[in-house]
Amino acid sequence: MKLKTLPEAYAKVHIPSKVALAVTKKPDGKFNLITLEWFMRTSIAPPMFAISIGQTRYSHACLQENRYFNLVFPSLKNKELLTLSGSQSGREIDKFRVGEVEYIPGKLQKYPIITSAVACFECEVVTQVKSGDHTIFVGEVKYNWLNSEEEFFYFDKK
Ligand SMILES: Cc1cc2nc3c(=O)[nH]c(=O)nc-3n(C[C@H](O)[C@H](O)[C@H](O)COP(=O)(O)O)c2cc1C
Repeated sequence: MKLKTLPEAYAKVHIPSKVALAVTKKPDGKFNLITLEWFMRTSIAPPMFAISIGQTRYSHACLQENRYFNLVFPSLKNKELLTLSGSQSGREIDKFRVGEVEYIPGKLQKYPIITSAVACFECEVVTQVKSGDHTIFVGEVKYNWLNSEEEFFYFDKK
């Protein structure tokens, strides 16, 4: 073991990693997407997921306004959508339109269920906590969706 900077030490261990998408609702009623590496399951009963969102992201403003999100586990078909959603802001573009995303309405608040993804969890925000320059939004899962025909996408440098 040797002392290193955080980027040096973290680069070695954080890839390959799981990535997800979170669907949020914009103040104008349209929907947004963000690519996330910082998310986790945090409770069995009731089931909960936490997502960590940078305070400068448009998704952060969306979550302050509308207290629901869909956590989407992507399939191999969603690679381009992950790149789009992780590199452009919903302030400037409609990622659902640009990404030609196909979806059906969810059951909780009709947030989109992306039909080409592997799984989707419809969540209601129950608490949030500031974590440095990010905010952790904790969502209670209300509905679970699975597309067992698709294969989960792992984020890798290759
Ligand atoms: C692989 C990958 C993982 C990311 N993980 C996170 C994350 O966990 N939290 C976050 O706030 N941003 C994360 N980002 C950055 C956002 O996805 C990116 O800034 C996005 O354009 C924000 O969109 P928005 O402004 O529409 O919310 C990640 C980006 C990539 C490519």
